[in-house]
Amino acid sequence: MSQAETTPEGTRRDFIYYATAGMATVMTGAAVWPLVNQMNPSADVQALASIRVDISGVQPGTQLTVLWQGKPVFIRSRTEAEIEAARAVELSELVDTSAENANLPEGSPATDENRALSEDGTWLVQMGVCTHLGCVPLGEQGDFGGWFCPCHGSHYDTAGRIRKGPAPRNLPVPVAAFVDESTLQLG
Ligand code: FES
Repeated sequence: MSQAETTPEGTRRDFIYYATAGMATVMTGAAVWPLVNQMNPSADVQALASIRVDISGVQPGTQLTVLWQGKPVFIRSRTEAEIEAARAVELSELVDTSAENANLPEGSPATDENRALSEDGTWLVQMGVCTHLGCVPLGEQGDFGGWFCPCHGSHYDTAGRIRKGPAPRNLPVPVAAFVDESTLQLG
């Protein structure tokens, strides 16, 4: 049901959205996708309080993007290098020192361990909505090798933490949990 693709250059992604239960819509090379029209999801979208996502096809170093409650969610299988880079960062280097993780108590520190969904750090699940004005950041870009928002130049690291630019907060981690090793539930 799910798949991830890249262009030959490997610099863009095909985003896969679960528009409605059981259906997926593929959108190619979306560089900038303002969420103006996404902020008012229709009733049927709002009704999807939780969805289950098959992550078995997500290889290390790739990202699956699903649409949940009208907004993109990035589900990334991180490489060892990405995890190491994120875990080497001191809290004092961060703009937003809160984990912004809905699965943890409010105000939990923004360590990589508090951002990742799996204990080994492989899985990072976060809203794909820039905390500045809501554009969709691009993966594997920017000064910190994480995500880059081209709208006004916000750089996020490999844990989705804002490091440079106008965005005030880390990309939010939504309520999420593993149902089994290949299935993730959002909400
Ligand atoms: S919306 Fe991302 S930097 Fe402004």
